[in-house]
Amino acid sequence: MKHIVCIVGTRPEGIKMAPLIKALKCEPWARVTVLATAQHRHLLDQVLSLFDICPDVDLDIMRPNQTLPELTSRLISGLDEKFAELNPDVVLAQGDTTTVMAAAMVAFYRRVPFGHVEAGLRTHDLDNPFPEEMNRLVAGRLAKWHFVPTHRSRENLLREGIADTAIHVTGNTVIDALLEVAATNRTLDIPLDLDKRLILVTAHRRENFGEPFRAICRAILQLLDLYPDIEVMYPVHPNPNVQSVAHELLGTHSRVLLCDPLDYAPFVEAQKRAYLILTDSGGVQEEAPALGKPVLVLRTETERPEAVDEGVVRLVGTDEALIVAEASRLLDSQSAYGEMARGVSPYGDGQASERIVAVLRHELGAAR
Ligand code: UD1
Ligand code: UDP
Repeated sequence: MKHIVCIVGTRPEGIKMAPLIKALKCEPWARVTVLATAQHRHLLDQVLSLFDICPDVDLDIMRPNQTLPELTSRLISGLDEKFAELNPDVVLAQGDTTTVMAAAMVAFYRRVPFGHVEAGLRTHDLDNPFPEEMNRLVAGRLAKWHFVPTHRSRENLLREGIADTAIHVTGNTVIDALLEVAATNRTLDIPLDLDKRLILVTAHRRENFGEPFRAICRAILQLLDLYPDIEVMYPVHPNPNVQSVAHELLGTHSRVLLCDPLDYAPFVEAQKRAYLILTDSGGVQEEAPALGKPVLVLRTETERPEAVDEGVVRLVGTDEALIVAEASRLLDSQSAYGEMARGVSPYGDGQASERIVAVLRHELGAAR
């Protein structure tokens, strides 16, 4: 038996690790321990309970409005203590959060092989996204196995001198999770006006805090003035830097539904119902194209260029006028809308977890 410790810290890690954890648990050669750092508390608990995953270890790291240095130091000491107890053969973590960087570092110090899920994403700009570009560079430098979603991400790693034999193109496990959840139609427990076109908004990036985020909110207000037939639904991330501005600028508008973060299943349903999505989220950039929904990305750079190249996602940054212009183009022109509302899935086919498990089965000498 190989002891595999699967790390989950935040909401997207929970969603993207869930299909892999489930697949690994079916393998007779693998003993799986789920270690939640709980860098997120409520948001992580929501998704783990949806996927029926109960962490074996919970570090309960989250503090209100946590700073990056304090978060990092708590993660490193908490993970180190648990790795000493658990003595894993392999550590797996997904993505680019501080949890992932800390897990890769502690695995390295303890000389435990580290597998990086969703490897190879790059903007080549340490400030965008901040601090995630640094987190993924560290994880990528330390990983033994790189499970990349696309050929573009493979090429990024080859350029950094990572051996081709260590890179495995698997697709992104987010599509495994999405297809499982999207297969069921659900009711949305939110009072939507079905006669209006729904614009779904999410935003949480640290580099957008302050004025960029205020500009996003002002653009939404302009769009509401210009288009009486739209309604905005915005599940607000619990980070206090996001909450305060969202409620101050959008809280009183009659056609804005500000709500708490939605559970994953209703959020997928909201994406299915949306006419258009405005977001700075990574995961939503991957999911919405698969659901045939146009996305305007509220960032100046993306590590997910594949959907931009396909023409179904556009980068609009945080410039108020540009957001209004690009959204108006899609609200005014059926043909412009139709070109972006094509169902394409550049990030996966729903089989990524199976491919990752097959690699590990082979590499760990446990072929059946
Ligand atoms: C984190 C990740 C980011 C990822 C995002 C997914 C880092 C540095 N950031 O950003 O890469 O895209 O998660 O959502 O790793 N909070 C709660 N309850 C929760 C979760 C968060 O109250 O369940 C609040 C707390 O005040 C917390 C704050 O949000 O301190 C920030 O959480 P943190 O994980 O540091 O940053 P995110 O912006 O969520
Ligand atoms: N999501 C959710 N509820 C919400 C908003 C987002 O379940 O209210 C899901 C979304 O479908 C995607 C993931 O959370 O799978 C993205 O998380 P987030 O945007 O917080 O992080 P990122 O992907 O940017 O790291």
